[in-house]
Amino acid sequence: MKRERWGTRLGIILAVAGSAVGLGNFLRFPVQAAQNGGGAFMIPYFISLILLGIPLMWIEWTAGRFGGGFGHGSAPGIFHSMWEKNRFIKYFGVIGIFGPTVIFMYYTYIESWLLGYAFFSLTGRYAGADTQQAMQSFLSGYQGLESNEFFSGLGWAYTFFLITFIINITVIYRGIRGGIEKLCNFAMPVLFLFGIIIAVRVLTLGTPDPAKPDWNLLNGLGFLWNPDFAVLKNAKVWFAAAGQIFFTLSVGIGVILTYASYLDKRNDVVLSGLTSGATNEFAEVILGGSIVIPAAFVFFGPEGIVNIARGGAFNLGFVTMPLVFQKIPIGALFAFLWFILLFLAGITSSVSLAQPAVAFLEDEFDIDKKSAVTIFGIITFLLCQPAIFFLGKGVLDELDFWGGTFCLVLFATVESILFSWIFGIDKAWKEIHSGADIAIPKFYKFIIKYITPTFLLFILGFWLYQEGLPAILMKNVVVENYHAVLYTRINMVTLFVIVAILVRQAWRKKAQ
Ligand code: ALA
Repeated sequence: MKRERWGTRLGIILAVAGSAVGLGNFLRFPVQAAQNGGGAFMIPYFISLILLGIPLMWIEWTAGRFGGGFGHGSAPGIFHSMWEKNRFIKYFGVIGIFGPTVIFMYYTYIESWLLGYAFFSLTGRYAGADTQQAMQSFLSGYQGLESNEFFSGLGWAYTFFLITFIINITVIYRGIRGGIEKLCNFAMPVLFLFGIIIAVRVLTLGTPDPAKPDWNLLNGLGFLWNPDFAVLKNAKVWFAAAGQIFFTLSVGIGVILTYASYLDKRNDVVLSGLTSGATNEFAEVILGGSIVIPAAFVFFGPEGIVNIARGGAFNLGFVTMPLVFQKIPIGALFAFLWFILLFLAGITSSVSLAQPAVAFLEDEFDIDKKSAVTIFGIITFLLCQPAIFFLGKGVLDELDFWGGTFCLVLFATVESILFSWIFGIDKAWKEIHSGADIAIPKFYKFIIKYITPTFLLFILGFWLYQEGLPAILMKNVVVENYHAVLYTRINMVTLFVIVAILVRQAWRKKAQ
């Protein structure tokens, strides 16, 4: 079957940037930076970008394009085409289908909250909630965690979930060029426009309360960016920075492999990869760093902000920001722009998460796009339900730990070793530069061969030791959540095994 192709070069750059720019840029990044040394966090952050993020970007663009040349758009086939003699490597590729599907299982639900909140900001539904506590109740009511004056039951949340899910599936159904490329060509410029409008609004905030002159923007920026170099002695800060780089660039997930598989050998990957990475960094450091923390500081002051930053990314997005917008003129409109911006950031990421599984069904079982998307839609619709109905029982954290954290590091480690050591760095270096518009500086050959895999093995070992073992043994799960977490885990293991069996079937069929 003839594989699809991207329509334009800008199309794939925006699609990869769309996959990368997500909630991680606007919510996760500022919280991580504020909690891990402020401006000093940027040192391990940029080191991780240079030694991990950029090399992995190039590795994934190149490996994806290479595998696409053999008709494979997902990790099992791509890994197999890079190491044909080995029978087992394709099973490592299962992670690159399993991981993004697991993320998809909760990401679409969170994305749907954004659509809901965009609607509520225009209709004034949360206007009565004017304290942190009231806004928190609004959120808990919406999520069905409590019945209160704002909501009883999950009706609204479920409606917005259905709408979001249908939009996602429709975009994916229309294919790479007709769906994803069109969506990103529209959504990315709009997202940047809204981001710049909101950042300018925040950066021109005065001092709302004359009695508290130090609750001002400069101090807000200072809270986020003043460096505390002492934290650099702490290994945790370095791992937080590396984790943020993975999450924000969408590397180690498997989606860039699939996107790049729709390129051909004459298409550049060096400059394109770098451009999509740079676009993501602009959205993260410049826009993400100028909005939530400085705005929250101006309205909640130096003590309030400490608790807010500790409360994590969701509270910042769904509790603090709606309150901030209530306090500024035409705030409802800004709140609407904010939630639409996040929704667009979310949907351009979630459609990418579906691609590895869809491409796997299409390429390895020779089924057409429409049937592959229908199968994917039905299965993931069912798989999304636990995150909706058992949200308060730790399901989301469990999915996020395995799908959104652990698998990323494991997968990146496998692919970086495969790329530089098995496929071979000399062949890899040639492959990267096929069709390239610029040459990568020579020292990167050394970094990709030695530094990136070593750094990854180190992180993997540290994580297994510090978080993996307690997680496997369910040490951090509270008793009330035990059954839900166990059930989620059984679901995930089942999914993994099914994908592995499908891989075996696909290769058996080919061998006949
Ligand atoms: N890269 C996506 C984000 O930052 C997943 O949210």
